[in-house]
Amino acid sequence: MRQLSTIADLRVFTSGAPRPLGLVPTMGALHAGHMALVAAAREECASVVATIFVNPAQFGPAEDLARYPRPLSEDLSMLEAAGVSAAFVPPVEEMFPAGSATTVHVGAPARPLEGEARPGHFDGVATVVAKLLLQVGPERAYFGQKDAQQLAVVRRLVADLDIPVSIVAVPTVREADGLAVSTRNAYLSPEQRAAAPAVYRALAAARDRFRIGAGVPAGAGTQVRAQLEAGCRERLAREPLIDAIDYVAVVDPETMAPWAGPGAAMLAVAVRMGGVRLIDNVLLE
Ligand code: PAF
Repeated sequence: MRQLSTIADLRVFTSGAPRPLGLVPTMGALHAGHMALVAAAREECASVVATIFVNPAQFGPAEDLARYPRPLSEDLSMLEAAGVSAAFVPPVEEMFPAGSATTVHVGAPARPLEGEARPGHFDGVATVVAKLLLQVGPERAYFGQKDAQQLAVVRRLVADLDIPVSIVAVPTVREADGLAVSTRNAYLSPEQRAAAPAVYRALAAARDRFRIGAGVPAGAGTQVRAQLEAGCRERLAREPLIDAIDYVAVVDPETMAPWAGPGAAMLAVAVRMGGVRLIDNVLLE
């Protein structure tokens, strides 16, 4: 596996790399969720570039960029063992040299939910993802369904900027007890970790309810949405270690607008356990 840190070296590498080329963008601290993206890319692509860049532009002032884990040598070993062709690990000055003054701002799908809770976050994500897509020039790029709104924002930006790449969504990887694998899980106390699967249980219960009531009658979408949201919220509220519920929302997974049926629906939640914010979602089908 090649390790690259400049855009110039990356371009030399990609110009000779067998195609199709897959991009797996990450911020490092790799876990099973990232490795599922790599595995999907390996299956479908002749070459895979994984990127490790802790993007300062997507952290808010109250979010601890300095505390974000950076186990670089373990990350590189994992990528190498998984058969990645090249790891692109640029320093901040390579991605955002002095004088950088362009931000990619995605509208509608970036506004609600995480967009409201984390102002500016999706500008940072969209800017760095646009740059990585232009730097690597992959045929395919892999994103986790766990960050469903990020996925919607990336799909929108690729469509709007006519970037010739297929965005591939990889299903959320879960621990045996249902908790979605996330870098943030490491910040949970043992008691919080034991309580955290309540989030997925609440989502799964709503999904089961949606299935049982399959075939939402015409015009009843808004009512079904309200019932599902209320049921899920009630279940989450029963877990004493969940300190706050930021949102519980049934949305259209493409636009992130409140779902009014019929068509694809997703239930997304964000909760806080102490200082740790957990997000998760399920597709309702
Ligand atoms: O999902 C992530 O890890 C990041 O948001 C991404 C896509 C690598 C952009 O920094």
